[in-house]
Amino acid sequence: MAPSSSTLCFLFLLGIFSSTFTSSFTEIGARVEGSGRIRRRTLMDNGLGLTPQMGWNSWNHFHCDINETLIKETADAMVSTGLSAVGYIYINLDDCWGELNRDSQGNLVPKASSFPSGIKALADYAHSKGLKLGIYSDAGTQTCSKTMPGSLGHEEQDAKTFALWGVDYLKYDNCEDTGGLSPKERYPKMSEALLNSGRPMFFSLCEWGQEDPATWAPSIGNSWRTTGDIEDNWDSMTGIADQNDQWASYAKPGAWNDPDMLEVGNGGMTTEEYRCHFSIWALAKAPLLIGCDVRSMDNVTFELVANKEVIDVNQDKLGVQGKKVKKEGDLEVWAGPLANNMVAVVLWNRGSSSANITAYWSDIGLKPSTVVDCRDLWAHSTETGVEDEISAEVDSHACKMYTLKPHTNRDRS
Ligand SMILES: *[C@@H]1O[C@H](CO)[C@@H](O)[C@H](O)[C@H]1NC(C)=O
Ligand SMILES: *[C@@H]1O[C@H](CO)[C@@H](O)[C@H](O)[C@H]1NC(C)=O
Ligand SMILES: *[C@@H]1O[C@H](CO)[C@@H](O)[C@H](O)[C@H]1NC(C)=O
Repeated sequence: MAPSSSTLCFLFLLGIFSSTFTSSFTEIGARVEGSGRIRRRTLMDNGLGLTPQMGWNSWNHFHCDINETLIKETADAMVSTGLSAVGYIYINLDDCWGELNRDSQGNLVPKASSFPSGIKALADYAHSKGLKLGIYSDAGTQTCSKTMPGSLGHEEQDAKTFALWGVDYLKYDNCEDTGGLSPKERYPKMSEALLNSGRPMFFSLCEWGQEDPATWAPSIGNSWRTTGDIEDNWDSMTGIADQNDQWASYAKPGAWNDPDMLEVGNGGMTTEEYRCHFSIWALAKAPLLIGCDVRSMDNVTFELVANKEVIDVNQDKLGVQGKKVKKEGDLEVWAGPLANNMVAVVLWNRGSSSANITAYWSDIGLKPSTVVDCRDLWAHSTETGVEDEISAEVDSHACKMYTLKPHTNRDRS
């Protein structure tokens, strides 16, 4: 059942923006939830996801070829590479972790051939490393692989099982026989079951954007997919970025649009294309879920996904999704506000030849006279005292990413 709009307790905190910003700035999507003592009166009152979730998921690289050895080695690698230290803490199983049939009591059963020690042991292992464990189920009678049961009709039982195992996160897919019920009926049931389970679990809805989940999922989940599955190529990635963009104004702390997991490091795009993928996902406050084999990740991949300055944009406390603010042919400017009156900007060349791209202050919500320090988040260099615009030559299928920090009056005197 869809929540009534009165349960969506949004406030427009326009005062959060100082006079640095012009009024047109709110159009970038400044709908933020009240802070302080204002409670979220929602089904999904789990307090999780105040910034977008970060971690790893098995699907994009391994599909169904997963087992407990792989997951433990991945957990080890997340720590030893330093990825967990920059925020990637969820280790998420996707499809194919369970047996085809439930046990005689109707419980889900970990697949004996690939998870012989069970999921509880895996969760304990993740927790011992300071990580969290995510699991996967489906709002239908079977998961998408058709190799294990879905949770439709077993929501309470499965949520309790996950809680008992010490699971921290549920990705909830939308495959197979769904009894003719809409996602708006099936997903709230699991949301409520998770709340009743006694363990806080991040709830990641995966109904592929079919019923415009941005309009109803914020009250029942921490993130919702806005698109079909990503593929490891430029056309898929750019198309998904655009589809996700239209829902920007619905994102807020605790509730995020999800344009699907990262393909960075899987080999189907160039380094510069992956840099665009990661930059746009970070700016759009997308979940940052690494989808490559981190055990054998190369240095280039590591340097992309471990760029703390880009991650900081994603994890910014203001929690406003950046969006496409200007498009001239294949040349685009994406931008969004950050805490402390800062602004994040991506100059994105989606065309086939090198070009100059300019973002004027009026494009990105800064007053014309504002003087900023401009930090290049990939070059790790700062240009001070920038006025009116930022401009750069950007290669084909490449991007630049900046944060702009307005000078205070004191700085300027
Ligand atoms: C576990 O999965 C990985 C990745 O698919 C595979 O390389 C490995 O052989 C598997 N190990 C076992 C013990 O099945
Ligand atoms: C990756 O970086 C490490 C440490 O900086 C270095 O020792 C190694 O040679 C690099 N590997 C490659 C393939 O560049
Ligand atoms: C970008 O602008 C600079 C400075 O005006 C110019 O020298 C350069 O040729 C331009 N690059 C492209 C690709 O148009």
